[in-house]
Amino acid sequence: MYTRYFGLKRAPFSIAPDPSYLYLSPQHEEALAHLLYGIRTEGGFVLLTGEVGSGKTTVCRRFLETLSSDIAVAFILSPTLSVKELLSTVCDEFGIRHPRQVTIKGLVDRIHAYLLELNANRKRAVLIIDEAQDLKREVLEQIRLLTNLETNERKLLQIILIGQPELRTRLAQPDMRQVSQRIVARCHIDALSKPEVERYVTHRLAIARRGREVEAGGAQSLPLFSKDALNSLYASSGGIPRVINLVCDRALLGAYTRQEQIVTRETLLKAAAEVLGRSRVEGGRKWKVALGSAVGLCASFVLLYVCFSAPKMTFAGKTRHIFRADGARAGPPESLLAAFRSLFASHARRRDAAFTEGAVVRPIPRGEPPQPGGGPPQPGCPPASRAGQAEAAPRS
Ligand SMILES: Nc1ncnc2c1ncn2[C@@H]1O[C@H](COP(=O)(O)OP(=O)(O)OP(=O)(O)O)[C@@H](O)[C@H]1O
Ligand SMILES: [Mg+2]
Repeated sequence: MYTRYFGLKRAPFSIAPDPSYLYLSPQHEEALAHLLYGIRTEGGFVLLTGEVGSGKTTVCRRFLETLSSDIAVAFILSPTLSVKELLSTVCDEFGIRHPRQVTIKGLVDRIHAYLLELNANRKRAVLIIDEAQDLKREVLEQIRLLTNLETNERKLLQIILIGQPELRTRLAQPDMRQVSQRIVARCHIDALSKPEVERYVTHRLAIARRGREVEAGGAQSLPLFSKDALNSLYASSGGIPRVINLVCDRALLGAYTRQEQIVTRETLLKAAAEVLGRSRVEGGRKWKVALGSAVGLCASFVLLYVCFSAPKMTFAGKTRHIFRADGARAGPPESLLAAFRSLFASHARRRDAAFTEGAVVRPIPRGEPPQPGGGPPQPGCPPASRAGQAEAAPRS
């Protein structure tokens, strides 16, 4: 809808895992390298995990594009299957014929025969299971058994498991150690960092403008998002590509509707609120405001305390004043220093008294004079007048 208005040939922020839009951040590059490494190793699992919407499937699709014709691929996307359903889907993906009424063993035998034939023709096979966090335990176990299909020299099937972070947690369970021990390479994709979010947006816009992929580093900066808008995009999306796409798409639509040339922070926040819900977008801001207010409040209390209470604190028989004896107020740095000195000194004096005389430490009531030697007041010792204290007090 807005593409022509912004001079784009394709929609820049679709949420389809389209590999032609792949931005190779260092993490995505590493993930791709892991998958490529996985098909060169013999047997075992390669594990690719990542946050929801972080780009696992997109990386995997790019990986599939790079495979040569001597590699047979079975790509399974909906793994909430039973063991038998999984095996028959594997057969379908590899193009292995099988009757409808076939046992699990019958399916495994057919897969084995197919893999042996591939091997004889110097070809290899890869089984990729996306959304593997949803696999049932017994299905995972069956998949592990498939890695046992081998000749004397080599394993016949390479398996790549792709899933959300729960998959990692599941495979770390003790009852999953048989699978876990067969993992030959692991990689995890996290959210994008702030600079990466900007590069990601720039990259996708550049591809949408040219209508084709751009070579690495060739993405020209399209000033469709202001710097502030990109900052807010990072804050509201948490660096998750799918969320970035949703917010950017809505923001561009908003800018188009208002006939703006560039997405401003305001437009972006509005779009984020529409897509993610106002509470989530404002939640972050409210949190910051609340923290700022709390800090401000604490600072005010400290300041009030320093101004009105600290002048009456005592140390080693002397009263430390923030206000001068003549009533004039001391300068703020001097006041603060004096207050903190008095606080520490007063505490030290009471602690020492308790230690040396075995006295019970009790708070010194305001206005009560310190006792000689720094100990707590003794019975029968008359309190000095406040005025007397003030007169005796040196300027601190
Ligand atoms: N590195 C990237 N470059 C370009 N687009 C990306 C990248 N990573 C993710 N995306 C985009 O983000 C969206 C979600 O990506 P994808 O479906 O691959 O995530 P996922 O990790 O597989 O999510 P899920 O956990 O839900 O399976 C897609 O539109 C995809 O094109
Ligand atoms: Mg996916």
